[in-house]
Amino acid sequence: MAEVVSTEIVGQVGLVALNNPPVNAAGVALRTGLVAAVDALEANDAVAVIALYGAGRSFVAGADIKEFGKPPRAPFLPDVCNRLETCTKPVISVLHGAALGGGLEVAIATHARIALAGVQLGFPEVTLGIIPGAGGTQRAPRLMRMGPALDLITTGRRIGAEAAVDAGLIDRVTSGTPREVALKAAADVVAGQLPTRRTGDIVIQTDEAALTAAATSLARKQNHLFSPHRCVDAVAAAALPLRDGLAEERRLFNLCMESPQRAGLVHAFFAERAVAHIPEATAQPRDIATVGVIGGGTMGTGIATACLIAGCPVILVDAQSDAAARAETRIADALDGAVARGKMTPEARAAVHLATTTDLTRLAEVDLVIEAAFEDMSVKRDLFGTLGEICKPGTILATNTSYLDVNDIAAASGRPEDVIGLHFFSPAHVMRLLEVVVARDTAPEVVATGFALAKRLKKVAVRAGVCDGFIGNRVMQAYRLAADHMMLDGTPPSAIDQAIRAFGFAMGPFETSDLAGLDIAWANRKRLAAHRDPAARYVGGVADALCEAGQFGRKTGIGFYDYAGDTPVLNPALEDLISAEQARLGVTPVALDPDAVTARYLTAMIAEAVRVLEDGIALRPIDIDAVFLFGYGFPRWRGGPLHYADTLGPDTLIQNIETFAETDPLFWRVPTLLVEMRDTGRRFADMN
Ligand code: 3HC
Repeated sequence: MAEVVSTEIVGQVGLVALNNPPVNAAGVALRTGLVAAVDALEANDAVAVIALYGAGRSFVAGADIKEFGKPPRAPFLPDVCNRLETCTKPVISVLHGAALGGGLEVAIATHARIALAGVQLGFPEVTLGIIPGAGGTQRAPRLMRMGPALDLITTGRRIGAEAAVDAGLIDRVTSGTPREVALKAAADVVAGQLPTRRTGDIVIQTDEAALTAAATSLARKQNHLFSPHRCVDAVAAAALPLRDGLAEERRLFNLCMESPQRAGLVHAFFAERAVAHIPEATAQPRDIATVGVIGGGTMGTGIATACLIAGCPVILVDAQSDAAARAETRIADALDGAVARGKMTPEARAAVHLATTTDLTRLAEVDLVIEAAFEDMSVKRDLFGTLGEICKPGTILATNTSYLDVNDIAAASGRPEDVIGLHFFSPAHVMRLLEVVVARDTAPEVVATGFALAKRLKKVAVRAGVCDGFIGNRVMQAYRLAADHMMLDGTPPSAIDQAIRAFGFAMGPFETSDLAGLDIAWANRKRLAAHRDPAARYVGGVADALCEAGQFGRKTGIGFYDYAGDTPVLNPALEDLISAEQARLGVTPVALDPDAVTARYLTAMIAEAVRVLEDGIALRPIDIDAVFLFGYGFPRWRGGPLHYADTLGPDTLIQNIETFAETDPLFWRVPTLLVEMRDTGRRFADMN
């Protein structure tokens, strides 16, 4: 195996290659190797200049995030950076791929920096709930001034090489392999053509205006987050002598490291990547050159737009010619919007290949069909029967159903190995989650293709098994029901929404229902009516009444809230509707306080998530967390429902469920896994 850090002497140049695949994270081996390399090259009289470069895809993508939360191991990254800066010989760095976080901190501790075009530079620490902790908050302001450094550090935004040169972070942009560039730049240093200096020697003044502007903006937009505010505090210390500023940075960094927000955000980082580890990962995905989409409604047009943005030609079929024409206009608008938001280049927009038709046989030659037709089993069975006959062998037949049985749909096609669920979330060209629903007979390469497609569409794919609602909607139904129970028991919907927003969701359950359209849940209640346990409380009465009055939420201007004015107000009819239901059900209303609302809502969510896990519908707890982080607005800094559940512990959860069960034992049941976890001390984190 190649060494993590290796050195080579070429003429007067001491080259240091960093090689810690896949991203050159600055783990303990890289840190140790780097210090040893610098020690050796500094002591070698033949060496005049030391040049660092990354041997793989990147320079250094940052500290090793997997080490977070574990006992730190020397040498620590700040000391490594200080060692580089105080080296008695010039040290330069060549940046390519990613030079992020600790990677950029290493670079700005060297005496000159050369970037290769295409490099990503930035301080993403804030997105992980920490601050740059290896001198970034002290050296970046010295190179680029406080205002621009605050912008980079508090947003975690990534910039390219040219912008970094303009900002003063980088000295030069060039091309070539990292090793060649390192040799050439080192020769320039020897020849006096590339100046070098110690960043820590630069003295800067406090920029009160920039600090106040950053603090004010964060207080307005991100008051609930811990680390962005600590970034400002740390940058403020950059006007102190380097030693004192670094000490203050360390103090603030340690505070962030200990915060639960750090644990939640790091979990979210790994959740986004962990979901790709599926049993079918080694299967060879099928090639997808063209996609057919069935259905010109909101979902169909969103899915078509997502494929087109990714550069995939689409044939969209809708049985009604006017619907197909409307879909074409909607897609064109969405693509224009994508160009305006910088998600697509005008050239890519001009090269889009979209055909709309009413003729299903046009899908005979496509590689993938995604059906987003009416949510009705007999419609889907017919459709998949036809697709099974007309599509060429190997075409993948996907359904975007939200609830229906994918095994049934697969059977109707006559080629179930080609059938899969691809459950997009609306708006499909914006939402990042894609549930890949694996049916009984789905072929492994079809699953692998679903994941490959998600990557192409820049989505987070999560593998789900077949059940009513898969992972997301099944769990959502449970906590949505808990919200309805609370409303009927006497807590106003607006108070419930407010409590859930205070927890960190962008919207509460009633606001979300209004946005999604109350008619969708209404149709679902009707679909499930025959299967409902007669002993279960029926809490759909209020929403049924709204729907019967044509009040479907935002799309009709009124639902749980009335949207006629500047700000939504609670629907004035709601109080009477709720009272009537309470009278009918014999309920004496009692309003819950916000903490009690949150406890019930989250406990219902976690309990059903645990059952999803027990049933094998999700592979691991982290998959469920990813579903809620990327599809349901779960606050990222809380890490997802099962990460959050670990912070509560099984004792608290079981106690909650048992207390709530005193009034409704049918709804509130303790999952067996929670009891086992209590008895064995196992946590969800241990099952990932
Ligand atoms: N530490 C540990 N593992 C890391 C890592 C890191 N900094 N960055 C990426 N990885 C892992 C991923 O988890 C993934 O592992 P897996 O294959 O087992 O799932 C693997 O490396 C590949 O990562 P990606 O799938 O993300 O690869 P891409 O090629 O799509 O992206 C990247 C590469 C742009 C470098 C992206 O991985 C990234 O943005 N990484 C995080 C960068 C970051 O946040 N750095 C700051 C760290 S905090 C810090 O430096 C603190 C310091 O101030 C003290």
